[in-house]
Amino acid sequence: MRQEPPILEVKHLYKLFAPHDFRGDRKMAYKLLELGATRKDVLETTGITAAVSDVSFEVKRGELFVLIGLSGSGKSTLVRCLNMLHRPSRGEVLMDGEDITQYSEAQLRELRRTKVSMVFQHGGLLSHRDVLGNVAYGLEIRQVPKEERQARALEILRMVGLEGYEHEALGSLSGGMKQRVGIARALANDPEILLMDEAFSALDPLVKNDLQFELLRIREQTGKTIVFITHDINEAFKLGDRVGILRDGRMVQVDTPERMLEQPADEYVRRFIHNVNASKVLSVRNVMTVPGCIVKQSDGAHVALTNMRTSGVSSAYVVGEAMHLRGIITLEGALGVREGRLTFEEAIIKDVPLVDNPDLPIADIVPLAAKAAFPIAVVDEDHVFRGIVTKASVLSSFVA
Ligand SMILES: Nc1ncnc2c1ncn2[C@@H]1O[C@H](COP(=O)(O)OP(=O)(O)OP(=O)(O)O)[C@@H](O)[C@H]1O
Ligand SMILES: [Mg+2]
Repeated sequence: MRQEPPILEVKHLYKLFAPHDFRGDRKMAYKLLELGATRKDVLETTGITAAVSDVSFEVKRGELFVLIGLSGSGKSTLVRCLNMLHRPSRGEVLMDGEDITQYSEAQLRELRRTKVSMVFQHGGLLSHRDVLGNVAYGLEIRQVPKEERQARALEILRMVGLEGYEHEALGSLSGGMKQRVGIARALANDPEILLMDEAFSALDPLVKNDLQFELLRIREQTGKTIVFITHDINEAFKLGDRVGILRDGRMVQVDTPERMLEQPADEYVRRFIHNVNASKVLSVRNVMTVPGCIVKQSDGAHVALTNMRTSGVSSAYVVGEAMHLRGIITLEGALGVREGRLTFEEAIIKDVPLVDNPDLPIADIVPLAAKAAFPIAVVDEDHVFRGIVTKASVLSSFVA
């Protein structure tokens, strides 16, 4: 199968900040950076701050990509280069293959209106408007008719858990609620990419936890591509499909949380993630895999046997309407049906080890994994089958 091209590609991106009265040589700064000089060296030698140096990475469509780094590592500068709030000094930012660093102001305005939205840590909201007014604002600018924009805004407010708050004044909302409004406002434009710069960093842990969960849910529901910035490694590993670590403006590693834990690129990364207990940070979602074999309840035992044979496995997950999990059928069970000893329904083992929250920390499912005869099936709150977790993946997540 042909692989889909990434929605976003950043290639050798630099953002240099020079003092207003700068008369020196930028070329010298690039040369030093190319030779691997640190930001401090470059600043001392040239007077230029290399906020972002030679950063390259890709974001896949639908991916939740997290950028992490200490304060000053260049996270905000980098993310602002992704919608050209900062013009990069060098390098390319390709969106669907088009280099947006070459865009005109008009093209950029259009891009920010339709394709890329940003959620900020603070503010960015219109304090004189109510919740609905904030969310509908972007649509108003695009001259979407009033009824349509209200309907759309209400739908989004429901999605972010703000139903019933439409007419609240912004000032009366808590920090967490305001962030929900921020997310709703960004989503109202139906962008393809959502950029979130420390959107949850100022929130207290419980509220943060709620919003993280909400974000994962929204992501599932909308399939949006998200670039999420944080300085909290727990948050990064909890949310990120992949995580990029920035240090002094350079990208030191881009990987999945699991791989980063297993194979940190260097000592800096290792120390950065050192205090993370993998089993607490990684959730079921992070280690979940696709089941080897699925059969529809309506298909019956013959299909089950064929599928098991082609997949080389001795059991299959049985699903009903809309991927609702019904249970497991084993090879023996399916043969029993074929020989007329049981009905297909009787052959389905209903008592399957099950987790009904993909966001549960792995530590919480260890006891279940330890005594399970089959991989653990993961369903969501609506009992839709999402994947499986093997005993091995649970236990190996403890090796940090
Ligand atoms: N407009 C600017 N002019 C000059 N230097 C800047 C400017 N913006 C950022 N910098 C410098 O660039 C570097 C990266 O800053 P940036 O704000 O991108 O870091 P950050 O990772 O977002 O930090 P934080 O976690 O504190 O938000 C810092 O050294 C900062 O001082
Ligand atoms: Mg920042």
